[in-house]
Parts: sequence; C-alpha cells; structure tokens
Amino acid sequence: MNSLYRTMLFVPGNAPAKLTKAEIYGADCVIFDLEDAVSVQEKDAARDLVRTFLSTYHLDCRVGIRVNAQDTPYYEEDVKAMVPLKPDFLRLPKSETAKNMQDLDVFMSQCEKEAGIPEGTVKIVATIETALGVQNAFEIATASKRILGIGLGAEDFRTDMRMTRSEDGQEILYARNRISLAAHAAGVMPLDYVYSNFKNTEGFTADVRFGKMLGFTCKSVIHPSQIPLVHAVYDPTEKEIEHAKQVLVVYDQAMAKGSGVIALNGKMIDMPMVTRAKAVLAYAKASGKEI
Ligand code: COA
Ligand code: MG
Repeated sequence: MNSLYRTMLFVPGNAPAKLTKAEIYGADCVIFDLEDAVSVQEKDAARDLVRTFLSTYHLDCRVGIRVNAQDTPYYEEDVKAMVPLKPDFLRLPKSETAKNMQDLDVFMSQCEKEAGIPEGTVKIVATIETALGVQNAFEIATASKRILGIGLGAEDFRTDMRMTRSEDGQEILYARNRISLAAHAAGVMPLDYVYSNFKNTEGFTADVRFGKMLGFTCKSVIHPSQIPLVHAVYDPTEKEIEHAKQVLVVYDQAMAKGSGVIALNGKMIDMPMVTRAKAVLAYAKASGKEI
C-alpha cells in the first residue's frame, strides 16, 4: 500500500456488488457510505452489510466510513457499529462546529474502550457542507487530535447557501479556498469535493487541476473512471521529476560555493523551490515511480 491519499472512492453501503469490488479500481482509499447514497428504508441493512463485509475481508487500501449526521436517528448506531471494525477513519457529514467534532471524539473513545482497542485508533474526516461550517473551518480542523482531514460537501453547501449551480464551480471557489487554507494551517489533509457529472472527463480533469492549484491533495470520487484521472493530475510528470532533480543539483553547487541562490534555465532557485523539489521527488517515490 502506498502512503498517499490522492483518491477517496465513495461506495454506497447498500450495494454488495460495488462493495466487494471497490478495492480493485486502484483508489488510495475507499469510503463506504451510510449517508446520502442510502435511502432511509435501507439504513439498517446498509450498516449490517458494511459490518459483515469489513469483518470478513481485509482490504488492501485505506478504508473510511461515512456515517449519518449527528442530528439523525442513525448516527449513534453507525458509530457504535463501525468503530470496532477499526476503519482508518469515520467521515462526519454536516460538520459545522468544533463541538460537533469533540462530541464525536468523546463518543468514539467510549466505543474504542468498549471494543478493547487503543484510544485514537480511528481518525475523523470532517465534511463541511453549510455556511456555518465553512465559517468555522479552522476550528473544526483543530477540534480533535483525530482529525485527519477536512473537505467540502459541495452539493449540500450550495443548497444551504441558496447558490445557483455552475458546471465549473465558480460559486464554491471561496469555500474551497477557505477549506484548503484552514486544512493547511491546521496541518490536516485538504480534501477536494465530489464532481458528480462523472461522464464529463474533460470538465473533471480541469476541476482536479484547479483544485490542485488551490492546494488540495486528495479528491473524493464517485466512479472508478475518475481515479486514474486524479492520479494523472496529482502525480508529478517526468518533466517535473527531471526539473526537481536539476534544482537539487544546482542548489547543492551553489551551497558549495557559499551562495543560497542560483539560476537554472533563466529562473532564480532558492530555498522554497528546493523544498518544493524535494516534495516532488518524495511524492513521485511514494506513488511508485522510479526516480
Ligand atoms: N464503487 C464501486 N464500484 C463502482 C462504483 C463505485 N462508486 N461506481 C461504479 N462502479 C462499478 C459498477 O458496479 C460497474 O461494475 P461492473 O462493470 O463490474 O458491473 C462499473 O463500475 C461501471 O459502472 P457504471 O455502469 O458506469 O455506473 P453505475 O450506473 O453502475 O453507477 C453511480 C453510477 C453514480 C450510481 C455509481 O458510480 C455510484 O454508486 N457512485 C457512488 C455514489 C455515492 O456513494 N454517493 C455518495 C457520495 S457523494
Ligand atoms: Mg449530503
């Protein structure tokens, strides 16, 4: 298993065929959904199915579970049933305040204790999908040691904000920026939103590229066809790898001469670029590329 978290594939928790095949598509993480993809009539059945599946199979990728929101009658049962399965994280929808996260943290500690597993084993991903949640993004990201990442739930956010929906997501730019900033400031993973029109591969790729520019390092996806498109955008190209290597070589030469700055192909190279070059090489290595 690589150490990257580039793609999180949503899999409806009530769909046995999708559940059993979810890991074969190469996502870094699969996330079994008990919330919006599951109708009210199937909530209990989906929880049972995911529990049976995860108690029987060990998946060769990271595993998350999206539980129902705290103001629903399913939340407690979901958390109680899922924590003992030791998924990597629970993903909480409608995360609006630090208190939401602290309440979940306390409840998870209790479930871990009852299951006899070390406290803090299961992490939390917060989905922010309301105006209040975006306003509180940093407080949410720093509310608990368990927070692994925060992401935007774009469709619910648009509804809460009474936004008009555009294909390229202009209306959610501020929320994306704010969530990326809050995540980086808190040192947790910034997760980019779900692009639901999965047949539009060009629009999707442009959207992933734009998200990467904003600092996102992980994209939530809903269809297997979106996975390689995300990896292709996030993974460094051969050209970027070559450039990163050159940056390190010329910088070492500069340092040997007692200088902290040097030019490469007509552009100045200094410490921030060296740090980025090292990050590019580390990422390429983690994604399995020869460097
Ligand atoms: N997880 C696992 N497998 C998936 C999948 C997913 N999210 N989406 C599609 N597949 C599988 C299908 O089962 C099918 O497999 P098969 O060829 O072996 O039968 C294959 O990929 C091709 O699927 P396709 O026919 O193109 O799509 P579909 O009509 O079966 O499904 C969706 C379309 C949108 C219903 C489906 O992609 C999906 O359920 N996505 C996740 C939805 C979700 O969880 N939403 C909540 C979070 S926003
Ligand atoms: Mg929703």
